[in-house]
Amino acid sequence: MRYQVPKGTRDILPDEVGEWQFAEERFRKVCRRFGYREIRTPVFEQTELFVRSVGEDTDIVRKETYTFDDRGGRSLTLRAEGTAPAVRAYIEHNLAGQAGRVVKLYYLAPVFRYDRPQKGRYRQHHQAGMEAIGSQDPALDAEIIELALAWWQELGVTGCRVMINSVGCGECWPAYLEKLKGAIGQALPQLCADCQQRYQTNVRRILDCKQEQCRAVTQGVPYQVDHLCPECAAHFGSVRRCLEAVGIQYEVNPRIVRGLDYYTKTAFEVSHEALGAQDALGGGGRYDGLVEACGGKPTPGVGAGLGIERALLVREALGLRVGAADGGRCFLAVVGQEAKCRAVALLSELRRAGIAADMNHTGGSLKAQLRRADSDGWEYVAILGEDELARGTVTLRCMNTGEQREVPQADLAREVAG
Ligand code: HAM
Repeated sequence: MRYQVPKGTRDILPDEVGEWQFAEERFRKVCRRFGYREIRTPVFEQTELFVRSVGEDTDIVRKETYTFDDRGGRSLTLRAEGTAPAVRAYIEHNLAGQAGRVVKLYYLAPVFRYDRPQKGRYRQHHQAGMEAIGSQDPALDAEIIELALAWWQELGVTGCRVMINSVGCGECWPAYLEKLKGAIGQALPQLCADCQQRYQTNVRRILDCKQEQCRAVTQGVPYQVDHLCPECAAHFGSVRRCLEAVGIQYEVNPRIVRGLDYYTKTAFEVSHEALGAQDALGGGGRYDGLVEACGGKPTPGVGAGLGIERALLVREALGLRVGAADGGRCFLAVVGQEAKCRAVALLSELRRAGIAADMNHTGGSLKAQLRRADSDGWEYVAILGEDELARGTVTLRCMNTGEQREVPQADLAREVAG
């Protein structure tokens, strides 16, 4: 039996991991600059948390969660998105404290969705996410978008397309949804099967459907952004002014409705043409009812999730790649059994001195060992054969210059520490 990685998941191999570390490290750096602090939540949560927050009628909850009963009969779900767990922790640990300040959180975490795998869409993907909980200030909506763009900029990802929308609030919804249903009603039989169901449960999502026939039906229907209550309209105007103040170019796209039910007011997506069909680099928005829906005091919030795989796909398309992790400082090439024992001790000394070192474990001629050390990118090779052993030395070769000299074993760590 040959085992394979589960469908829709990927191994991140050592040659690729440099790209991941680079992306993660830059995300941490940008988040610190904007005052966001890291949070790490468990990889699974009570199922009910995702049902209540993401929404019972969303594709994510209906078709995509990895849900199982544990041995105690509790229903658990692998992280299906990052916002609900952050909000749960915010409430559970009273992160806002008595003063009720704005709590800014970020995470780098795997997300699990049972979706149809294709390029850029996986069953386990990773998100760089951030959440600002505790204020309605439209400046924070703009800040989240600015932070996302700052990360992509650090990664050299240019050509991002920012699309914003307002999905309104509980005040605006009843009248608007009535209008939308009215506009679609006649054409109901022309919609795809999923959208016919959405018409009953989540009519807004029809605007988001990529099927030709549904697109045709929704041409010219009323959009929420044109039917906002005065408060939502003012908020949207302020978000736009804040984006303009920091020089961010955006388009208003009234079809952005997002696949999660918790959004209120601002919703946005950032896409990149290098991604093809799955073109969303990231998305997010405001969720002013979510903390309360999850059992906390009424508290507004705003955030975003940015796909790490997708950012790396764009980097690849743009020909960007950090060098593969190189070897280390000093490789011990060992010839003969006698030398081996001494090499083990020398290797340990180097490592205790904080030097990245390794030795040959697979035999082979000295020539073969040197060749391998060279292709693996080692800076120095210390050769330990019978002669060196007898004299208490090693032959130290600088791989860059090819220069070679004999040094006492006791001095090796100092010689290569440089
Ligand atoms: P989302 O739009 O579902 O939002 O996901 C955010 C981003 O994760 C997407 O724009 C995309 O880059 C990436 N992504 C999503 N699904 C996949 C997949 N199957 N494979 C690869 N990448 C994927 C959320 O999850 C919200 N929690 C974002 C948020 C945070 N809203 C407020 N705060």
